[in-house]
Amino acid sequence: MTGNVLVGQSGGPTAVINSSLAGVFKTAKDLGAGKVYGMLYGIQGLLDEKYIDLGEKLHSELEIELLKRTPSSYLGSCRYKLPDYDSQPEIYETLFNTFNKLNIQYFFYIGGNDSMDTIKKLSDYGTAHQSEIRFIGVPKTIDNDLEITDHTPGYGSAAKFIGATTKEIIRDSLVYDQKNVTIIEIMGRNVGWLTGAAALSEGVDCGGPDLIYLPETDFSMEDFLERTARLQAHKKSLVIAISEGIHLKDGRYVCELTEDRKYVDGFGHTMLNGAANILAQRAAREIGCKTRAIELNTLQRCASHMASLVDIKEAFLAGAAGVRAADEGKSGEMIILKRTSGDSKACKSIYECSTDTFDIHKIANMEKKVPLEWIDLTNNKVTKDFVDYARPLIGDELSPIMVEGLPRHIEYVI
Ligand code: F6P
Repeated sequence: MTGNVLVGQSGGPTAVINSSLAGVFKTAKDLGAGKVYGMLYGIQGLLDEKYIDLGEKLHSELEIELLKRTPSSYLGSCRYKLPDYDSQPEIYETLFNTFNKLNIQYFFYIGGNDSMDTIKKLSDYGTAHQSEIRFIGVPKTIDNDLEITDHTPGYGSAAKFIGATTKEIIRDSLVYDQKNVTIIEIMGRNVGWLTGAAALSEGVDCGGPDLIYLPETDFSMEDFLERTARLQAHKKSLVIAISEGIHLKDGRYVCELTEDRKYVDGFGHTMLNGAANILAQRAAREIGCKTRAIELNTLQRCASHMASLVDIKEAFLAGAAGVRAADEGKSGEMIILKRTSGDSKACKSIYECSTDTFDIHKIANMEKKVPLEWIDLTNNKVTKDFVDYARPLIGDELSPIMVEGLPRHIEYVI
């Protein structure tokens, strides 16, 4: 590898996104790259010339190990939509001037479907202007909604946290001999991969959630109240998992059924929180029992103490594979994860995963939903196929490095 590397993190963070950063940094250095620069606050920060030389921060194997086990985006992040070239060519000129000034030959962006739009636009611009810089996307998102890849780094750890936390909430909910309903609100925007992971809690020691509502289908308030009341006739304590993105037939998100103003980000995404509270209030009013709303919120994406070892390893692998792909001359592609141990129903004991690359144009801006055949609409649950798909991804643990009883993280750069 000759020349310098530029890497950034974008979109919502995860518990293992820094493991991908470590994979990019270490592999680039091992392959002989010059400097490895990290953009601060993604492409938006780079437009303001915010970047660091990662080589000045990561000196030892221990620091790389700490980085891998530190949640959230070490370099900071953004939700910035790169404008089309035709509307603002000066943005591209500014960015490419910075690339040239820093002698960048390789550009890596660790992110989800919106962030892959940035890779697509930059690589298209680069191709049209005979630039030799190689642009590679490294997948990341707890939502697990990137097309083509079997799953995304970040999902496994969030799913593990959700499965474990749901188990604990169910235990807690059983203590009183009194009717109660607990609603757990789970992230994932318009896809239900994370909410379905609540079903991982089911086993010999736990019955799992009583109802699971994914955003792949329309939500009916009447049906929800009727089912909840019916279930409660023979089970006092109910735990219900809902996606933050559940919506009515007319398209309105349940979380929008309130007077509160909702924040909208740079990609036009409404901040989706509050649905559990709305449902808990309706259930309390109409069923007349104690209710509780639990928003897992950012806890589910920053719980590095509950990270999946499979996920940490794959996140590192994805970063490393990105660097190798760029070194081999690829550009305008994203790293994908492939289950090599049979189809997606493969059981944990034979789960294996490898990497490949795929054309970014067929991935950027798209949303992969949970297949309808993996949703049990009759009982409001997910099917065994869903659980078989998700279970291997939460496998094994890598404890944080503990100091004075708490996880030790790498020092801030932002
Ligand atoms: O992109 C992943 C995600 O965690 C979604 O599940 C969630 O809706 C969103 O990010 C929240 O983003 P932010 O932290 O920018 O509000």
